[in-house]
Amino acid sequence: MTVDLDTLRARLGDRRPRIALVLGSGLGDLANSVEAAIRIPYADVPGFPISAVSGHTAELVTGRIGETEVLVLSGRVHYYEAGRADAMRPALEAVKELGIDRIVLTNAAGSLREDLPPGSVMLIEDHIAFSGMNPLIGEPTDARFANMTEAYDPAFRAALAAAADGEAVPLGRGVYMWFSGPSFETPAEIRMARTLGADAVGMSTVPETILARFLGLRVAAASVITNYGAGIGTDRISHAETKEMAPRGGAVLARILRRALPALAAA
Ligand code: HPA
Repeated sequence: MTVDLDTLRARLGDRRPRIALVLGSGLGDLANSVEAAIRIPYADVPGFPISAVSGHTAELVTGRIGETEVLVLSGRVHYYEAGRADAMRPALEAVKELGIDRIVLTNAAGSLREDLPPGSVMLIEDHIAFSGMNPLIGEPTDARFANMTEAYDPAFRAALAAAADGEAVPLGRGVYMWFSGPSFETPAEIRMARTLGADAVGMSTVPETILARFLGLRVAAASVITNYGAGIGTDRISHAETKEMAPRGGAVLARILRRALPALAAA
């Protein structure tokens, strides 16, 4: 399935966004800081993948954040929804077809570190595709052998770190481990994840990073921490908690992004 680009282009009119931004669970508020916004429900664009997960909106928003023209994808499809790791491929291909060569991925995640409490933000420096799935399975071309060294663009990471400094807000850094979900991890799985070198766990983003690198898009990614991983602390982890906590860290991430965007667009 491919996205109907004629429909998308017609709705975008003369807008030429420089950078795409994918918003994770509970982070839809970020789309409200887009000025001169044009909103395009995914449902209006034939072929655009639509998530049915609560807490996710389902629309494209284009406009300016500060001086930077952005294309926000508010809502994403997850591997666990239909067992397809490449569920977001049509969306990312459409982004590329629009001439956008860079993307910021965001998500809600569970923390494995005491110094990354709920409400904090973690810059993703690398990932572990623990689900064992890969969105490029079945891709017939040699481009499938995508190089995943420095998948998270070093210049983008530096720009986000500098922006966090400028805003005087803490920005953790670490490795994100992708579990398929949709059930949360067990405490034993969380201990394993720590042992294997992860700092946060979640159910998204990694397939999009792989697809984006395959397509030649430069990637930055950040997790908003909504809870400690299972067995750490006394929390009862739930999707309701994810949706409730995400906007707190989301507000911090919004400040970092707003400041970083000119550098991300220029780097
Ligand atoms: N595990 C997996 N995904 C998540 C979590 C978690 O603890 N919190 C938010 N998304």
